[in-house]
Parts: sequence; structure tokens; C-alpha cells
Amino acid sequence: MKKIVVLISGRGSNMVALARACAAEGWPARIVGVIGNRPGAEGLARAAEQGLPVRVVDHREHADRESFDAALAAEIDALAPDLVVLAGFMRILTDGFVRRYAGRMLNIHPSLLPAFPGLATHRRALAAGVRVHGSTVHFVGAELDDGPILAQSVVEVRDDDTEQTLEARVLEAEHRLYPLAVRWFVEDRLRVEGRRVRLLPRPGAAGPSG
Ligand code: GAR
Repeated sequence: MKKIVVLISGRGSNMVALARACAAEGWPARIVGVIGNRPGAEGLARAAEQGLPVRVVDHREHADRESFDAALAAEIDALAPDLVVLAGFMRILTDGFVRRYAGRMLNIHPSLLPAFPGLATHRRALAAGVRVHGSTVHFVGAELDDGPILAQSVVEVRDDDTEQTLEARVLEAEHRLYPLAVRWFVEDRLRVEGRRVRLLPRPGAAGPSG
């Protein structure tokens, strides 16, 4: 049984989607803790409602990124996870932290990377006039919103979209995409080859025919 720790900063809707899928689909995994960096975050209450152990590492109590990341790593390591899942975790991570969890830390970003890394992705997608937008699940690499891509969900941009309507459709798709990608990880079906990620067939599944 693999152990997952989820890091959040805010609403926590992706964390809830993961918790529900993990329980409903009987993954060979369980969420052993949800850690937030803002004590009042809505997502922490939602995690508690799901019966998940909750912890807070408040970034405002740390003078610099190194000190915050060290405290966060100590909380994570105490739970001994196989996988760290960033779900709306809005902190820039130090190189040391990223290296510590290399190959076992995933992030979801609300754009089709490498387009629109960073913030305000929906507004920037509308301003750029792209016809498709979406979200990306990737292994966390050294650069912001970068690293080998596991999966993407594509959402069509409509003529009458606003930042809010586009965000809502992307988020809905995130709630399907992230559980799918995390499940691949816990089922040990992913192989990273340079920047590409290969998905192995589910054990027992028939190979390609014809
Ligand atoms: C999601 O849209 C996620 O992709 C985004 O924050 C939102 C969190 O929502 N993440 C980032 O922008 C990371 N760069 P949630 O708290 O309801 O899951």
C-alpha cells in the first residue's frame, strides 16, 4: 500500500477529488496526510471532513524559503510517503526540496504546459487568443511549472468565455485528470525517459492486437 501526502494552500478541491477517487476506486494507496501552509485554508477543513490527518506548516513563521522548506520536509518525512502531491500548493520550492522528492513529487498546473507557466493562466490564455487550454500533471522539476509531463486535459476555449467560466471548466477537468495520473503513479505504471513519461499497460491488460 503506497502512502501519499498532499500539499495544499487554498480551496483543496483537487485534494478532495483525489481522496474520493482513492477510496471509491480502491487504489493500492492511501492519503496519510494533508499539509497546508495557511492555517485558515478552506481545504484543511475539507480534508478533515474526509477523515484525513491535517497538519499546518505556516510559511509566515519562517524567515526564508530554506527554513520553511526544511520544516515542511520534516513534516512530510515523518509520514514517510511514497508520493508527494502538490494540489494548489502556491509556494516556490527550493532546489534542495525539489531534489529531495525527485521522481516522487507531482504537480497540477492550470494550463497546457509549456504554455503559460506561473500565475493567472486563464486570463493569459484568453488574452493570447488560444483556442484550446487545459491543465497538466507533471513531475516537479528544478524550474517553476516544469518537469516531465504525465498527462494533460484539453478544454476548448469558447467565444463567450470569461476568465471565470474558463477556469470552472478547466478545474472540472482537473478533477478527472489528477486522480487518473496519481493512480498511474501508485500502480507503478510510469517510466520517465528524459523529458518523456511512458505509461505501462495495466498488469493483465491485453496488448495491442492486429
Ligand atoms: C488548481 O486550478 C491548480 O491547477 C492550481 O491551483 C488550483 C487549486 O485549486 N495550481 C497552480 O496554479 C499551481 N501552479 P484547488 O485548491 O481547489 O485544488
